[in-house]
Amino acid sequence: MLYGNDGLDELGILGGINEVIATTEMSGRINAAPLGIIRDGESLYVRLFLGTHTYENVLTNGWFVANISHDAWLFAETAIEDLEAEYFTRREELPVLKEAEAWGLFKCETFATDIIIAKVELVKGEVLRRDFRACNRGANLVIEAAVAATRYLALRTDSYFEELMKMQRIIDRCGGPREREAMDRLMDRIDRFTHVR
Ligand SMILES: Cc1cc2nc3c(=O)[nH]c(=O)nc-3n(C[C@H](O)[C@H](O)[C@H](O)COP(=O)(O)O)c2cc1C
Repeated sequence: MLYGNDGLDELGILGGINEVIATTEMSGRINAAPLGIIRDGESLYVRLFLGTHTYENVLTNGWFVANISHDAWLFAETAIEDLEAEYFTRREELPVLKEAEAWGLFKCETFATDIIIAKVELVKGEVLRRDFRACNRGANLVIEAAVAATRYLALRTDSYFEELMKMQRIIDRCGGPREREAMDRLMDRIDRFTHVR
């Protein structure tokens, strides 16, 4: 077990924005959603936007678990859908994604506004398995597409939709089956949302 901010490097949380999947909990229900942890030297921040479960849960409980994973499919899925209970396990009683390569419990000091910018601190964490693979442009773009999809659904700006169409072409060419499926699922949801507009 790693304790305190000394464990950040070991968990792979380095300078810049670290995209993780945050698990939080409310009334026994586990929520998972992508979240960026911004690291600037030894300072760590998160920016949480109003209107999400993650915002509510972090504001109420003052913590989240960062799941470290490079599974782009999980980022796309958790960005716009809830995950079934079978995707989660418990480590030290905390909600953790079964597929996480490492996890870290972060405590945050928050106050309610439209957007929370919270200073966060690593309490403890654990490396579960070390996994490596070649870079895949399709996988990287699925994560980018998940960001564009959440913005498109929130703001309905056409430029995000155009970006998504471009990204889909590259994902089809460079991604594997899992990346292509993740992108198809994102686009299906966007279609469904657009039709109920
Ligand atoms: C890669 C990625 C990074 C994201 N980072 C953040 C973030 O730092 N803060 C935030 O509020 N939302 C972020 N989002 C958007 C949320 O994940 C999205 O609004 C999600 O639907 C919230 O789900 P929830 O209601 O289950 O919490 C990010 C999305 C993606 C795909």
